[in-house]
Amino acid sequence: MSEKEHKVSRRQFLTYTLMGVGGFMVAGAISPMVRFALDPALQAGGETEFVSVATVDDLTDEPQRFDFQLEIEDAWYTSEQSRTAWIYKDGNDIVALSPVCTHLGCTVNWEGSEDHPNQFYCPCHFGRFEKSGQNVAQTPPTRPLDLYEIEVRDGVVYLGSIIQRRSV
Ligand code: FES
Repeated sequence: MSEKEHKVSRRQFLTYTLMGVGGFMVAGAISPMVRFALDPALQAGGETEFVSVATVDDLTDEPQRFDFQLEIEDAWYTSEQSRTAWIYKDGNDIVALSPVCTHLGCTVNWEGSEDHPNQFYCPCHFGRFEKSGQNVAQTPPTRPLDLYEIEVRDGVVYLGSIIQRRSV
């Protein structure tokens, strides 16, 4: 190849540079949209008001079931929906788990099987989760139970949106 063939004209240089900068700007504008479309954690439940569910004094180290009502706004329509959380104290922290099995959506129960103490149990296909919500290997669920966002104000526990967790 001759040296002449390697030379880039001023016009080509400008074209490549502008294409590069333009492509970079388009990628920057599109990537948040793509991430939102692909990342289920960002779609899960959307924004939800925090709702008072329990007092800190109600809680123990053992997961307890708390049922509560949530107001859901969907465009012009507002409805009340029932929700459940398994809540417990973990040292100075509070953990609030969704009861929805991450296999096919049945409801899990703490110590729901006598054969598996200290675990959440799903009766539909014998799925199991550790106290932390981590799915037990060799059972159908492939990711942990979801968590609720938590706020504590004046000794009252408020729950917000669902946070999806991925398998580890
Ligand atoms: S729905 Fe829970 S194990 Fe299948």
